[in-house]
Amino acid sequence: MNAINPTTTPAWTRLLELVEKHKNDSIASHFQYHGRFDEFSVRFEDLLVDFSKNRISDGILAALMDLARETGVHEAIESMFTGEAINVTENRAVLHTALRNRKGHPVYVDGKDVMPDINAVLAQMKGFADKIHGGQWLGYTGKPIKSLVNIGIGGSDLGPVMVTEALKPFQNRDLEIFFVSNVDGTHIAETLKKVDPETTLFFIASKTFTTQETMTNAHTARSWFLEKAKDEAAVAKHFVALSTNAKSVAEFGIDTANMFAFWDWVGGRYSLWSAIGLPIACVVGFDNFEKLLAGANSMDEHFRHTAFERNIPMVLAMIGIWNTNFQGATSEAILPYDQYMHRFAAYFQQGNMESNGKYVTRSGESVNYSTGPIIWGEPGTNGQHAFYQLIHQGTHLIPCDFIAPAISHNPIGDHHPKLLSNFFAQTEALMKGKSLDEVSAEMKKAGKSDEEIAKIAPHRVFEGNRPTNSILVKEITPYTLGQLIAMYEHKIFVQGVVWNIFSFDQWGVELGKVLANGILPELAGDEEVTSHDSSTNGLINTYKMMRKG
Ligand code: F6P
Repeated sequence: MNAINPTTTPAWTRLLELVEKHKNDSIASHFQYHGRFDEFSVRFEDLLVDFSKNRISDGILAALMDLARETGVHEAIESMFTGEAINVTENRAVLHTALRNRKGHPVYVDGKDVMPDINAVLAQMKGFADKIHGGQWLGYTGKPIKSLVNIGIGGSDLGPVMVTEALKPFQNRDLEIFFVSNVDGTHIAETLKKVDPETTLFFIASKTFTTQETMTNAHTARSWFLEKAKDEAAVAKHFVALSTNAKSVAEFGIDTANMFAFWDWVGGRYSLWSAIGLPIACVVGFDNFEKLLAGANSMDEHFRHTAFERNIPMVLAMIGIWNTNFQGATSEAILPYDQYMHRFAAYFQQGNMESNGKYVTRSGESVNYSTGPIIWGEPGTNGQHAFYQLIHQGTHLIPCDFIAPAISHNPIGDHHPKLLSNFFAQTEALMKGKSLDEVSAEMKKAGKSDEEIAKIAPHRVFEGNRPTNSILVKEITPYTLGQLIAMYEHKIFVQGVVWNIFSFDQWGVELGKVLANGILPELAGDEEVTSHDSSTNGLINTYKMMRKG
């Protein structure tokens, strides 16, 4: 990976000129050209990505693509797909794309083809998932498994949570699935109240098998299980491990025959395609898990082989850079108009913010430009009644991605047309806004006095010109969901390359972990703690006093 400061490229200079040149253009004014939608949208299989409601013109898009070229995006894509160690700070390849390489062509890491190992684990996952899904895996008293509990956190939790929720219509409803992630004892306690040890299977999902939260919850689950089963041998039927760390799995007491492996070149937040996806395969069936992989693979192929201007992840990435670095946006909202996708934004909070929340360049200096934005969002229409006010009339520029399926899994009455009418209306409203003249005329027509119009009308003005992307999907299926996830993964990747940062490490989460480990022993006993600053000491000592009751 090269280390080019994007601000030193000719394209960046050109983009600064274009900001100045187009500062008075509005998105709405671009629509005088009737071909805009055709030109600024891409159809790919059952997806339509409409990026026409952005503050961009032909020239701006072309300059953004030049920026991608001048910062080496094309070379970086090939480096990723071909297994180069692009995760430099951890000296690892980045090959979530190999996990869904359905054609199975060889992919080499350090001269070794990783596909045979991937296919072997997939076969092992299929064997296991078929048994769970089909009710043939029996617990220690001979009853079929009914409850699945995934214990993991971050990438070992968010992906399976998001996907199982998004694919609920495809679930075997005889199985229920729970996710425990927080080290707060409430999370595991409330889950264990709902399940029966005779019919529960625990997935201990941890790439490292050392994560404090996961190991604490796993030990609690194991003790709870053994209290009822009273037989160590029964653990094998009720605990499986999803991990890269066979040694620690064995030490925990899980039979390594019940371990589903993955590899250090699978990043935690890119791991749902690996053994970490086993809970998904169990509840929606292995054939659906394969369709999820196939959908992601189709987006991989599109991303790798399509010209930049028609390449969906590339276009989304570069428009995001335009908004962040040239329009002043600091956050982006992901707004799915699909209740099943209610964890999608939360999933990409980790995907995006853990990847691109970095201020150090690939050559080790501080950046002199903004990098990854804050990602947030909730499903529509709920968000409309909560935070859209700020998106429409606040002082922050918040580019939004609106996502909706054309076909609902629950076509009850007119719910779906109502939902979709909101989806279409919001992006139009955000773009067009409403002028003072329009508001005044409307109020006059409603019989309001001039005095009242003068007082109230300014509050009802919408500036508009707020950028959005609309992503319309025929239906949310395992295949199209796989496409959508891969689309955002590659968007994040491209942005990291252009911003000249390393997107596949996460050193930023380490410091808090280390300090917490130091503080934990200090919380025992009653002695006053004096080893920190006065605030931290004061907080710890007050906690010690308070807990005495
Ligand atoms: O939050 C930091 C992190 O390392 C994530 O990147 C990862 O997904 C998560 O912790 C869980 O790690 P593990 O799978 O090793 O338990």
